[in-house]
Amino acid sequence: MSRRTLSGAMKSALLGSARQAAAQSGPSHAVAQAAVPVRPTITFRDLPEYKDFELQKSVSGFLGIKNPFFRSHEGCAGATSVIEGRECINFASYNYLGLNGHPDVREAAKQAIDTYGVSASASRVVAGERDIHRVLEKCIADFLGVDDAVAFVSGHATNIALIGQLLRPRSDLLLHDAFIHNSVMVGAKLSGCARRAFPHNDLDALETMLMEQAGSFERVLICVEGLYSMDGDTPDLARLVELKKRFNVWLMVDEAHSLGTMGGTGRGIAEAQGINPHDVDIWMGTLSKTLSGCGGYVAGDAALIEFLKLTAPGFVYSVGMPPAIAAAAIAAFGVLEREPERVTKLNANSRYFIETAAKAGLDTGTSQGYAIVPVMVGDSVRAVALASRLLDKGINALPIIYPAVPEKSARLRFFLTSEHTHTHMDTAIHTTACELAALQKANFGIKAAAVVARATRRKSVPAL
Ligand SMILES: Cc1ncc(COP(=O)(O)O)c(C=O)c1O
Repeated sequence: MSRRTLSGAMKSALLGSARQAAAQSGPSHAVAQAAVPVRPTITFRDLPEYKDFELQKSVSGFLGIKNPFFRSHEGCAGATSVIEGRECINFASYNYLGLNGHPDVREAAKQAIDTYGVSASASRVVAGERDIHRVLEKCIADFLGVDDAVAFVSGHATNIALIGQLLRPRSDLLLHDAFIHNSVMVGAKLSGCARRAFPHNDLDALETMLMEQAGSFERVLICVEGLYSMDGDTPDLARLVELKKRFNVWLMVDEAHSLGTMGGTGRGIAEAQGINPHDVDIWMGTLSKTLSGCGGYVAGDAALIEFLKLTAPGFVYSVGMPPAIAAAAIAAFGVLEREPERVTKLNANSRYFIETAAKAGLDTGTSQGYAIVPVMVGDSVRAVALASRLLDKGINALPIIYPAVPEKSARLRFFLTSEHTHTHMDTAIHTTACELAALQKANFGIKAAAVVARATRRKSVPAL
């Protein structure tokens, strides 16, 4: 920040007083008013996007499908959760290792509030730095076996800040898996870089893209996830490292879902696949899953971390992470280090779920036995109806529909935890198989909804 330029606040204060002076001086105020162009009023209710939601709501209501989103949980959600007064078996929370609500984690958060208060009260650059922030970052870097780390207040904003800052318009290229998380895409949009998607986990296609395009750009970044959040499968990291070295480009792995769920001690995909963590340039992850907090991190080379801490707008111009969240994540690392058997139990649960689902005739896609297991449904309306019927029977699993996944790939996503029992999983699988079969038999799905939607638009809903 140069001393010779005005800050944003000073500029708006000056503009404000200039406008006030102009308003008080009479004639020029009248001229300014006359110059305002006439515009039609646009109400939020008239937005076509809003009207689409309204239509969806009335069609769902007519078909008797309850809204599966924004369901309120009344306590600490884990393998079970109380939803609207009723205890359900829960497959919709990131609490993979049961650390949210763990006594050590709760206690650490409470102590941090007593010491620091609830907020960091400023950006870390100016006055929000607390020693606990650095303790957390050191903990992350040590756990992953890299130089350093930086923590951001949101996982989604971490990817935006990172990619938005690292890649530049036109001269730089992002090559990413087609199933990459939305936050990476938004970061790419912000940066203005060129962006190409390779088909999911198709590293032959990536190799061809590198061969044809890497030479035309300055900074080239390959971005993949450690554990794909919608499919529960993983990339071949050894091959990615080989490609990144051969083409001399950067490699980034988003470990939002693989930290704590993969590898013998939860150190993620590098541990699970026997890769040297220094062979990946950028490790990104979130604190909101295994670590029971909120926020994201970037870990890797010390220069990368310093670069982000000094320049990334989402860090420089944003408040520091609440100390209680940092403390909770540090405590979660402590439990994970002492009790790696939680990871073993989680993965055993996941494999059990996949095997039992297969026996019940359910399609679990390409999931590999790590915390996330989809049950493929195909039809979006059917997936939403299935989730609604499951909730009626005390099972909470959320539907994932377009645009979160490709058209016709709608599914129910089951997040497993180390705390689920075989009874929880057996009940969920049996009920899912029965309800899905009933919906298939009734041919209930998008076609039925389209009939109702057309009739709703004409305001004459037929008796189905
Ligand atoms: C792969 C991936 N990256 C980033 C994020 C954003 O993380 P957060 O929800 O902590 O903001 C998510 C969210 O689930 C994710 O699945």
